[in-house]
Amino acid sequence: MQGFSREPGTEGPMTEVPRAGLRRIWRWAVLVAVGGFLFGYDTGVISGALLYITPDFELSAAEQGTVVSVLLLGAMAGALLAGRVADRLGRRVTYGLEGGVFLVGTAIAVFAVDYPMLLVARLVLGLAVGSASATVPVYLSELSPTEIRGRVLTLNQLLITIGILIAYFVNLAFSSAGAWRGMFAAGAVPAVVMVLGAAFALPESPEWLGTHGRVDRARALIASVTNEATADQLIEQRRRRRQQLEAERPGRRGWQVLRSARVRPALVVGLTLAAVQQFGGINTIIYYAPTIMEQTGLTAGNSILYSVAIGLINLAMTLVAIKLVDRVGRRVLLIVSLVGMTVSMALLGLAFVVGLDSVLALVFMVAYIALFAMGLGPVFWVLVGEIFPPSARAVGSSASTTVNWSSNFVVSLVFLPVADAIGQGPTFWIFALICAVALWFVTRYVPETKDRDATQVDAALQRRFGRRHRPAAGEQPA
Ligand code: BGC
Repeated sequence: MQGFSREPGTEGPMTEVPRAGLRRIWRWAVLVAVGGFLFGYDTGVISGALLYITPDFELSAAEQGTVVSVLLLGAMAGALLAGRVADRLGRRVTYGLEGGVFLVGTAIAVFAVDYPMLLVARLVLGLAVGSASATVPVYLSELSPTEIRGRVLTLNQLLITIGILIAYFVNLAFSSAGAWRGMFAAGAVPAVVMVLGAAFALPESPEWLGTHGRVDRARALIASVTNEATADQLIEQRRRRRQQLEAERPGRRGWQVLRSARVRPALVVGLTLAAVQQFGGINTIIYYAPTIMEQTGLTAGNSILYSVAIGLINLAMTLVAIKLVDRVGRRVLLIVSLVGMTVSMALLGLAFVVGLDSVLALVFMVAYIALFAMGLGPVFWVLVGEIFPPSARAVGSSASTTVNWSSNFVVSLVFLPVADAIGQGPTFWIFALICAVALWFVTRYVPETKDRDATQVDAALQRRFGRRHRPAAGEQPA
């Protein structure tokens, strides 16, 4: 597998998952993607809550900034820890614990009596969000058959965008009463779903069971969504592949796996895409859209309206990605997205530099979000779950996700000062340049992963990086 699919070079179709099995897998996937919802909710809720926390706790501008960014620091730490924990305790238990940590963070936020307590709350929430963002792609990938894996993994991004949008609506609902505690409290709902889901509804990943001496349970799980014969065959193939990997890299465990030459191409792709996804400027638009619009001369009026509009486009275009990702593949989506992001960011910069019509600026901004949402946004998270070989998947995701959160932190820290120093237009040109470099990187180094299992993805990565590929057990020479 990745999830429940046959290895290449074996007889019969790539997967044998009957409809009923696929339905079960989708139900699990939706439940796991609730972790993505939490990511989005926390991205969106703070802007609304902060408006009312500020007068309550008499926060200075610097303190407000810290309340926002301390979550990103917590997320970095959470993402860093998640891989080892998910390898030791399993994907399911880790996921449940993340829901638990989120509940603790929510409780501290809801009952916060002063600024330091609020900071602790945001840090704990960050730990949960960061950790979940590293675990969810791995878990989804390992529960999914090859032919629907792109869609299943894109669910994560869909739930991120839904989380952002729902947070705006929750902010609206509570804003007339100024009830910021209620805004935080609403976030407990997905956290409870995570804990209960892990306890009662979700299975452990068959890949993890197989590598932790629970082969019988892995076989039973695969048989429950396919049939006995397929389960036996898959288990045997996986045993051979593990044996071969162990022969190639004896004794490498934990983070050490990432130092192996074989994993390096996946690591380079994971870390680079993680950085450019943030350094392309997405969150300056997600976080600061109303401020940017005001500077083009459009009256922000109800600033939340801009946010909702941006959120809706973000969501709608992610649905487009879900439709296309298993049909046209990841590379096409990435390339179209990055060409469009480069052009729209460059034009947005131009709009500021030459003082173009403000409506045009809005059009470029919306185009940029739309193009991110149908490509780089979801596809980065899809690839995080797909490019690493099973033994490095959790730590590889951890590393990529940590870089994603750190880059997010750096961009949100420097965006306003840089824009002040060199102007918003040139700042947007820097983002455009980064998107252009990302485009070059993708065309050269990122392989197509659609319809490929772990062994084939590995072979494709080795070829892209000019390495000789040794076929793994059961694989026909590529
Ligand atoms: C990014 C987030 C961003 C979100 C917007 C995600 O893929 O990782 O940083 O806020 O997309 O939808």
